[in-house]
Amino acid sequence: MSELLKVENLVVAYGDLEVLHDINIRVDKGEIVAVLGSNGAGKTTLLQAISGLLPLRRGRVIFDTRELTRIPAHELPSLGMAHVPQGRGIFTTLTVMENLTIGAWNPRGKKERERHLNQVFDLFPRLKDRTGQMAATLSGGEQQMLAIGRALMQNPLLLMLDEPSLGLAPILVEAVFATVEKIIAQGPSILLVEQNIFYAIDLASRCYLLENGRINLEGTRAEFAENPRIKEAYLGM
Ligand SMILES: Nc1ncnc2c1ncn2[C@@H]1O[C@H](COP(=O)(O)OP(=O)(O)OP(=O)(O)O)[C@@H](O)[C@H]1O
Ligand SMILES: [Mg+2]
Repeated sequence: MSELLKVENLVVAYGDLEVLHDINIRVDKGEIVAVLGSNGAGKTTLLQAISGLLPLRRGRVIFDTRELTRIPAHELPSLGMAHVPQGRGIFTTLTVMENLTIGAWNPRGKKERERHLNQVFDLFPRLKDRTGQMAATLSGGEQQMLAIGRALMQNPLLLMLDEPSLGLAPILVEAVFATVEKIIAQGPSILLVEQNIFYAIDLASRCYLLENGRINLEGTRAEFAENPRIKEAYLGM
């Protein structure tokens, strides 16, 4: 498989406080990769650094053969990178359809907009029934679906998801993750960061464990599910 995203020796700091130390991760085309870690491990910081929202103290981010260091964050959607931030980042005072339309503003998204809209509605039929509804009045689960749907309207090569399970009841977490699994069939690769290891591990082809800003373990889904430390510390077994 060919490489889509490569993060090399990444160091990120807030002022004097270094929170990511020498991070190396990779996402190949067609993969779902999960970066797993508890509260404060540095998951959000990692995604923000990859999408150019935070400066890198050291290291490189290479996306689709380009080094991103000198590319401004607002140009990344046109290159095929989509980021669903923690807390969803939808426009609450706009309707479902307006949010989806905004997702398609870049050149990649404008092409075949109707087809992508139909794909989003296939994945999330609940959104189709609510196109005129104000996003603020959607349930938490529906808002998460809208956030993912909006990112898919960008027609991305890489979809980055920051804790899509946050604040959702287990049944909705399962629904959202089941959809994430279907997305991969439509083309984009996925980088998921999650503290909900129990669900995320099932979805990922490969996993990384992020603890206190360091990648302490890397392996396949099976290797993670069988790892004694993961079982004990994170899966409560
Ligand atoms: N703007 C900021 N200024 C200073 N420190 C910050 C800032 N944002 C995050 N941090 C610190 O960086 C560390 C990593 O935070 P981050 O939000 O990346 O963790 P996380 O893994 O996403 O956690 P959670 O699962 O709770 O979302 C934490 O110790 C946090 O307090
Ligand atoms: Mg976070």
